[in-house]
Amino acid sequence: MDFNLSEEQLMIQQAARDFAQNELLPEVIERDRDQKFPTEQVKKMGEMGLLGMMVDPKYGGAGMDSVSYVLAMEEIAKIDASAAVVMSVNNSLVCAGLEKFASEEQKVKYLTPLASGKVIGAFALSEPEAGSDATSQKTTAEDKGDYYLLNGIKNWITNGGTASYYIVIAQTDPEKKHKGINAFIVERGWEGFEVGVKEDKLGIRGSDTHSLIFNNVKVPKENRIGEDGFGFNFAMAVLNGGRIGIASQALGIASGAYELALKYAKTRKAFKTEIINHQAIAFKLADMATQITAARMLCFKAACEKDAGKDISESGAMAKLYASQVAMDTTIEAVQIHGGYGYVKEYHVERMMRDAKITQIYEGTSEIQKIVISRSIAK
Ligand code: CAA
Repeated sequence: MDFNLSEEQLMIQQAARDFAQNELLPEVIERDRDQKFPTEQVKKMGEMGLLGMMVDPKYGGAGMDSVSYVLAMEEIAKIDASAAVVMSVNNSLVCAGLEKFASEEQKVKYLTPLASGKVIGAFALSEPEAGSDATSQKTTAEDKGDYYLLNGIKNWITNGGTASYYIVIAQTDPEKKHKGINAFIVERGWEGFEVGVKEDKLGIRGSDTHSLIFNNVKVPKENRIGEDGFGFNFAMAVLNGGRIGIASQALGIASGAYELALKYAKTRKAFKTEIINHQAIAFKLADMATQITAARMLCFKAACEKDAGKDISESGAMAKLYASQVAMDTTIEAVQIHGGYGYVKEYHVERMMRDAKITQIYEGTSEIQKIVISRSIAK
């Protein structure tokens, strides 16, 4: 097993690190405070190839491997977890699903602008009454011959207010349960499609989370992804990859908080010495460093398995389950190490603690990851 990164991977990591320091850090506190989407920064991320990292260059992507994606995600999330989720959704839930399962026409029309970052996409599975229990879709898509009539509401959709294209999961035949579910590409601006309320969130406040309302929206037949009834399996396959993205986001939040805590502990003095010399603090940092390294290894494992074309349901779920727990634990301890300073915005770690929580909830809660893992190991 080779733990060394290639020249190219190191370059991508450095480019993402520089970008995060120079472009994301300056107003990250203000964006969090004002719930401001990082429009200019996301545009630049697109130009750098960060929004379609693993997509074939013939469809506007950067043609990189999944380990590079983990590395870049970690660097972006270290500084701005909101920008990181925009990146994760566009790469993993939107572009990767389209590249693997969409028709050639759909790839040319939709994937190419999405992967090159000219526009961004969203993935709409969750509903007011169907989050974890994803087969219980209430949104319907009635087959009307050459189009489907889409009706329903989607909730908590990342990039909901800024996306141009949406992958929408809907029930076409309730009798068939999950085999009666389909996935569609829906364009913003289509008649009957309305972007609903923007959520006022605990964390990742720079990202844009909305409900979506579909009221008799006509979706052309050619916008269905894959064969009739493929939508649920499509969503599950896409989420497996998405979980690597969120695991890497969690990893970045954890390592960002750790680096700040370490720096603080080396300079802050109490009882006549730097606080890192107190074992109570040093042991916290030792735990953080160990857990972050383990989380990174799980992300790399899932990424390597993805690139090798293996089933990543188990490894993706393990990476997300563990990294999100590490993000939560690390950020709480980073606030603790900073003491009173940690509780104010200027020191960043309180934002990181708020940002960390969502990584245990979206793209499958930690409890769902345990269902996926336990079913896999029981096989
Ligand atoms: N990978 C591939 N296929 C899977 C799968 C996985 N991880 N999990 C289930 N499937 C397949 C099964 O093989 C089965 O397919 P076949 O019938 O063809 O064999 C089908 O899906 C149904 O499987 P189950 O009977 O196991 O379904 P279930 O109702 O018991 O639910 C579940 C399975 C794992 C709990 C699933 O519902 C799930 O993952 N729920 C969580 C959904 C989720 O992650 N939501 C997050 C929303 S997206 C988001 O957060 C986006 C954002 O904006 C950030």
